Amino acid sequence: MDTEFVLLHNRRDLTQCCVELLNSEWPRSQALRERNLEKSNDDLPCSIVMLERSRSGREKVVGYCKISRVLGMADSVVVESVVVSIENRGRGLGRRLMENMEDIAQRFGFKKVYLSTHDKQGFYERLGYNYSKSVSVLKPCSLKINERLLKKLDASVL
Ligand code: ACO
Repeated sequence: MDTEFVLLHNRRDLTQCCVELLNSEWPRSQALRERNLEKSNDDLPCSIVMLERSRSGREKVVGYCKISRVLGMADSVVVESVVVSIENRGRGLGRRLMENMEDIAQRFGFKKVYLSTHDKQGFYERLGYNYSKSVSVLKPCSLKINERLLKKLDASVL
């Protein structure tokens, strides 16, 4: 099985699979999901899709996450909706998804990644994330999110 990472706006045909993966974890309406996924672009927000390809060439979406800008912090992104399909958890794919997301953020010129989690602190700590002050995500409603974890992309863990 080969693993591949693509940006959703370069592979719009994967939208429905992403809706299904996201809704398997956080059920929302089809229309809301499609509207949010449509926003993916190189200037952020940007949806990152993890695919597995079988020997026969069949593709399957196995992971997803989205990076967005952080209000007032030009060097930072926030990562949200990190998910690996339930049957593929515990295989190291979540780590690969996050590492790939960090590579993409770095290529775009960002230096820090923020995120918020209710119950996956242990996962992010394994990946080298530290607790930080809260930040505002650049969204029309200027959503305030508490309990951020921070990873510096130029830190030695990378
Ligand atoms: N608590 C502590 N450690 C964990 C946890 C956990 N809940 N989950 C994984 N780990 C550890 C693993 O043991 C592994 O450690 P190691 O590499 O040192 O051996 C490491 O983290 C990487 O684990 P993976 O196998 O890569 O993780 P997985 O593929 O299972 O994906 C994920 C983890 C994405 C959290 C998955 O469980 C999932 O999709 N959960 C449901 C959705 C979710 O809650 N997403 C996070 C929302 S928060 C946000 O989006 C910012």
